[in-house]
Amino acid sequence: MQLERLLQKHGFGTRKGCRGLIRHERVAVNGQICDDPFAEIDTDGLVFTVDGVDWPYAEFACLMLHKPAGYECSRKPMHHPSVLTLLPIQLRERDVQPIGRLDEDTTGLLLITDDGQLNHMLSSAKRKVPKVYLATTKHPVDQDQIDQLLAGVLLNDELEPVAAAGAEMVGENLLRLTLTGGKYHQVKRMVAATGNRVEALHREMVGELSLPADLNPGEWRWLAEVDLQKLGYLP
Ligand code: URA
Repeated sequence: MQLERLLQKHGFGTRKGCRGLIRHERVAVNGQICDDPFAEIDTDGLVFTVDGVDWPYAEFACLMLHKPAGYECSRKPMHHPSVLTLLPIQLRERDVQPIGRLDEDTTGLLLITDDGQLNHMLSSAKRKVPKVYLATTKHPVDQDQIDQLLAGVLLNDELEPVAAAGAEMVGENLLRLTLTGGKYHQVKRMVAATGNRVEALHREMVGELSLPADLNPGEWRWLAEVDLQKLGYLP
């Protein structure tokens, strides 16, 4: 792929702007400055550098973000900044979007991509991809609430009860809940249906992929092949 087109594909602006970056020797390919915008670059395993920042060649951008509280997942947020503002401009230019939504006050693992197929696979109700949440509750959690969550609770606008795929007490006011659906405010509404109330909510896991302990709130990283495997996306 021509270097100029490669930069444009990765969100570095117009072709003309990318050409300028290259001509001004701000771009390196596998560690070597390249000032030819039309150089043919082998993209296999490529890492290119712009202004000293390394970028892996990525046909699609697939990322995980440790969502902090106080950010909205919507692209057109109403009251708080969008989670997308936590990403470099180049990724926003690629039109990445969150896969599903977490509430403004929910923290934890959020996947973001411009890969429609990955987004569709993880959002599809049919696939029943498990999502694991840690909910801090207002009142102590008891076995009756756990039993109700596992058996299914009726949410106000639903005709059928909705059951958790997993529910366990992990502290007096701490509940770990596994859901395979993604209804609006589902955790908060299910817990409310048992007579308790969610005071704080954190997503620990999507599929087999956990939020890494060293990814701090507000930080993001590329998904590695092994992460995509844990999501059931790669064989
Ligand atoms: N369920 C909720 O209630 N809120 C979230 O952010 C995610 C799941």
